[in-house]
Amino acid sequence: MRVFTALFPMSLALAVASGAFAQDAELGQKVFNKCKACHVADQETNRVGPSLKGVIGRTAGTYAGYSYSPAMKEAGEGGLVWNDESLTNYLRKPKDVVPKTKMAFAGLKTDEDIANVIAYLKQFSQNQ
Ligand code: HEC
Repeated sequence: MRVFTALFPMSLALAVASGAFAQDAELGQKVFNKCKACHVADQETNRVGPSLKGVIGRTAGTYAGYSYSPAMKEAGEGGLVWNDESLTNYLRKPKDVVPKTKMAFAGLKTDEDIANVIAYLKQFSQNQ
């Protein structure tokens, strides 16, 4: 009985914590379907767009072996680093953040989709 009462609150806390994380990234994986035509996140492979593996904490326009637009390279030289804030702005409306980006994507409509897809990308990045 003593074991049960000791373990119960702990397992409850764990279930809540892991449940919340799985849900975000899981929903984010579905949102990522919209990016898949041009990006992979789980491998070091460039498609139409650069690999998004390790994109959190990366300076914009610096993934080796990918041919960025001059605009994206300049944004990186100007100090643009991909984190929660900059990704949120970029994914809402890419051309607001990098006006001449060659990423032909209008943007995600809801903050929820944006937060979830960032949670998904974090799974493949070390510098969260
Ligand atoms: C139609 C193709 C296309 C789609 C769809 C697309 N992207 Fe992109 N993305 C690109 C291209 C091309 C670039 C390179 C932009 C440049 O050089 O100006 C890019 C660049 C990026 C970058 C900057 C990466 C870096 O290394 O600086 C991020 C972050 C990004 N995309 C995230 C996303 C996410 C998340 C989605 C889905 C919500 C998405 N993109 C949808 C084509 C696309």
